[in-house]
Amino acid sequence: MARIIAIANQKGGVGKTTTAVNLGASLAASEQKTLIIDSDPQGNATSALGFPKDPARRTLYQALILGESLERILIDAQVDGLDLIPSDKNLVGAAVELVSMENREYQLKALIQGVREKYDYILIDCPPSLDLLTLNALAASDSVLVPIQCEYLALEGVSELLDTLMRLRRTINPALSIEGILLTMYDDRTTLSKQVAADLRSFFGAQVFESVIPRNVRLAEAPSHGMPVIFYDIHSKGAESYIQLAKEVISNAQKRVGQGSERADQGTGAAASAAAAGGGVGGSGSGGSTGAGSD
Ligand SMILES: Nc1ncnc2c1ncn2[C@@H]1O[C@H](COP(=O)(O)OP(=O)(O)OP(=O)(O)O)[C@@H](O)[C@H]1O
Ligand SMILES: [Mg+2]
Repeated sequence: MARIIAIANQKGGVGKTTTAVNLGASLAASEQKTLIIDSDPQGNATSALGFPKDPARRTLYQALILGESLERILIDAQVDGLDLIPSDKNLVGAAVELVSMENREYQLKALIQGVREKYDYILIDCPPSLDLLTLNALAASDSVLVPIQCEYLALEGVSELLDTLMRLRRTINPALSIEGILLTMYDDRTTLSKQVAADLRSFFGAQVFESVIPRNVRLAEAPSHGMPVIFYDIHSKGAESYIQLAKEVISNAQKRVGQGSERADQGTGAAASAAAAGGGVGGSGSGGSTGAGSD
């Protein structure tokens, strides 16, 4: 039965979609049957996988609002073992129309039950906000993967997001854990990237993935060719890093099976204390420091 991972950060442009598409393709290449759900009205994951805008294509909107099954909407992402639930701008309407629906946070969760058995992983690419689409994704997920861009003020909003996750654990999804914090667009030539990475590791410890995604032009180019980076340039640093991340996700899942669900609970506990101490993770008011861990 699939592990469902929401890829979320309300901050825009931090690498959510790049991670959904490339982690998804790398998991599929590791023989893990994977479904990517594009839950962002921008439809970037949909186009990055080679599906340009097409008003005739059915999307997550039809499922969320008109009650169609995901089975009827999913498409083969032209990669072995990878399927896609596409999105387009109509999904903006879904975010609004959901407001008046009963069980409005649980619509996606209910839909996913119908396809969960078919996959090893289901990745949900969230929009850059904490709207009802993101809440639906978080309510439906086992865990959340948070990409953070290694730049000045990168930590701004992380404590807000973790606060929200903790609130969600008390309300709509007590089982939600932290899959991991992922450092993206890392540039090892800059002191700043190194400092942000070190701060995050000292603050969040083992919750930060060991795999780090470098800033890599191939990752930025691949979407315009409509393919994941492992098919665009398998030898690039970007491809290597997402293959590494897929291995880490799979190995964490294997460890979790060994330990029962303990690890997940511990993980969220650490995030909870981080969120509680979140005042220091704003990056604001701390001069040139990134904030975290800089007492
Ligand atoms: N590691 C990387 N190296 C170079 N460019 C990258 C990298 N990761 C992402 N990008 C580029 O940065 C931009 C933002 O990335 P992406 O779309 O994945 O972020 P996002 O969090 O999904 O954005 P949004 O919040 O708008 O949905 C894109 O143009 C993408 O190609
Ligand atoms: Mg995106």
